[in-house]
Amino acid sequence: MPKTPVIIDTDPGQDDAFAILLALGAPELEVLGLTTVAGNMGLAQTTDNARRIVELAGRGAVPVHAGSDRPLLRAPRPVPEIHGETGIDGWDWALAKQGPAEGHAVDFIVRSVLAHPAPVTLIVLGPQTNIALALRREPRIADNIARIVFMGGGYFEGGNMSPAAEYNILVDPEAARIVLGAGIPVTAVPLDCTHAAPAPVNWSAELEAEGTEVMRACGGMMRFFERYGNAKYGTQSRPLHDAVAVGALLWPELFTGRLCPVDVECAGELTTGMTVVDWLRQTGKPDNCLWLNGCHDPAELYRRMKTALMQLPGRGRD
Ligand code: BDR
Ligand code: CA
Repeated sequence: MPKTPVIIDTDPGQDDAFAILLALGAPELEVLGLTTVAGNMGLAQTTDNARRIVELAGRGAVPVHAGSDRPLLRAPRPVPEIHGETGIDGWDWALAKQGPAEGHAVDFIVRSVLAHPAPVTLIVLGPQTNIALALRREPRIADNIARIVFMGGGYFEGGNMSPAAEYNILVDPEAARIVLGAGIPVTAVPLDCTHAAPAPVNWSAELEAEGTEVMRACGGMMRFFERYGNAKYGTQSRPLHDAVAVGALLWPELFTGRLCPVDVECAGELTTGMTVVDWLRQTGKPDNCLWLNGCHDPAELYRRMKTALMQLPGRGRD
């Protein structure tokens, strides 16, 4: 089977780190590059984190392009209270050996998508600023994008940063609106889906027990990431939101959802950043998004994730 070419747009983030490692370890995917955006942390930090992650994986040749340092119209909203001071707290990271690749993320996306012989899938794990700018810069890329899979939004579950809004959409709602309106096949992996896919309880210990540097880093990040969420939600384990999105691309049979019209509220007094999902198709608007709302078998999802993570060569064999 030919590999699916993907570009990962990201703001690491522990759950972004898992998503990137999962994509790098999955034999079904060819990661053309990573593009970074201001989100969980400022741009310099998310870019450095992305470099550290590809190098930890032993895949330092994968280019990391720095992108937008702020949302289209709004101020950045870093969240160190969730992800720690570095964004990927929980592991004693080695310094990145290389800096980012030359060229802005938006240029990389435009160039790579236009040049690739097969349609490219975009995996979008943070605020959607870079993708919106790429679509505005060169609308022809839409013709060679197979699908956009994004983690973001919430309808049945509400929001995690306000009662109505999930973080990635709240930070740059205008960008999300552009992406959803671009006429490209979109799969949304919102809180409705990720909250149905919590990691196994004590997964961190299970990962660490594998003993390799990659798995110990994953265990440490998992332990850190869960602390905030478990305290907030009163749970015993948390979903790795962004990794669930990569899982949904790899293993759609594990998920449920519906193709329907989805839009983003950009001006609500109480609801800015809300994803408005026409689940019952009451608006008569065209279906623009496969909205995932569940996961049949979270245990199987995380078992497969772990298998893919175990495929990574690790540092030193780059
Ligand atoms: C999303 O927000 C970020 O903090 C995470 O990395 C994830 O992309 C979850 O709402
Ligand atoms: Ca993220």
